[in-house]
Amino acid sequence: MAILLAGATGTIGQAVARELTAQGHEVICTLRPGATLPEAGPRTLECRLTEPGSLSRALNGQRIDAVISCMASRSGAPADAWAVEHDAQINLMEEASAAGARQFILLSAICVQKPRLAFQYAKLAFEQRLIDSGLDFSIVRPTAFFKSLSGQVARVMEGKPFLVFGDGRQTACKPISDRDLARFIVGCLTDPDRRGRILPVGGPGPAVTPLDQADRLFDMLNREPKIRHVPFALMDGIAGTLGLVSRVIPPLRDKAEFARTGRYYATESMLIWDDARARYDADATPEFGSDTLWDHYADLISGRATTDLGAHAVF
Ligand SMILES: NC(=O)c1ccc[n+]([C@@H]2O[C@H](COP(=O)([O-])OP(=O)(O)OC[C@H]3O[C@@H](n4cnc5c(N)ncnc54)[C@H](OP(=O)(O)O)[C@@H]3O)[C@@H](O)[C@H]2O)c1
Repeated sequence: MAILLAGATGTIGQAVARELTAQGHEVICTLRPGATLPEAGPRTLECRLTEPGSLSRALNGQRIDAVISCMASRSGAPADAWAVEHDAQINLMEEASAAGARQFILLSAICVQKPRLAFQYAKLAFEQRLIDSGLDFSIVRPTAFFKSLSGQVARVMEGKPFLVFGDGRQTACKPISDRDLARFIVGCLTDPDRRGRILPVGGPGPAVTPLDQADRLFDMLNREPKIRHVPFALMDGIAGTLGLVSRVIPPLRDKAEFARTGRYYATESMLIWDDARARYDADATPEFGSDTLWDHYADLISGRATTDLGAHAVF
């Protein structure tokens, strides 16, 4: 199939490009002007998805079969989130559809089930537009990525303590590797059971807490656990103060949103939310793939892998 891939320079987009190529699809990646693909192979199309008409001009009559969008705001700042996670996704959907695409696979996030942040509302608003579009859709809502749970490996290897909020057991997730998630996403092209559905997905269980991560990491390093417990009140204080100050100093609004984001991930699990019982449900969170976070930690420790948090370091 001829697949248009948006977000191909990002963490999951790169893995999806690799998987599509391995499966023999024709891959056409949209790139922002000046951007390049980290790995050669797929065809590229330079365009500005935030500008209506830009993709159509770049396609120049070329037909496509399906779209996979792994595009997301790099910063998560409210204005950028709406511009990318909503407006640009709509341009992508409408212009790809005009070029023949009948199927649209969207990489979203499990956290939109309990929205509090601008980027989550922007994602939800686009999810609804996609559902209403009449296209064959699959909305993939993964749990946490390995990169988001690896930020402390380097500091622990330097002898510093692992930081956890509270007792380190308040949140949990079923981490999924880039490769397994890419396989799941590409599988949506052909699996009829994944069509017309919202698909929460995690990696292999069991669910892990921040304390589990710390314990396993020290164990793998053969060191005595050194864990620093950070009070939730500290995070609440920073988020609350920035929230108030940003009402009188608007330029601080983005910083206030980043503080709220940090607080969100410190207090909310990346698992299925059971509304009736008002709790997260690890057992109900679907599992896919075989790569474990512990394999990834081993790769980081041995230097076989690196963690590039980029602008997402705040998460
Ligand atoms: N981190 C987690 O644990 C986690 C968990 C579940 C779900 N998610 C979700 O997964 C998604 C993808 O995450 P990721 O880590 O792969 O993202 P990422 O590495 O930050 O990549 C974002 C991609 O979107 C592109 N993009 C950003 N702004 C753009 C714009 N204005 N126009 C065109 N393209 C633009 C980027 O292109 P450039 O290279 O040109 O910037 C890049 O290719 C996000 O929606 C995130 O919310 C994340």
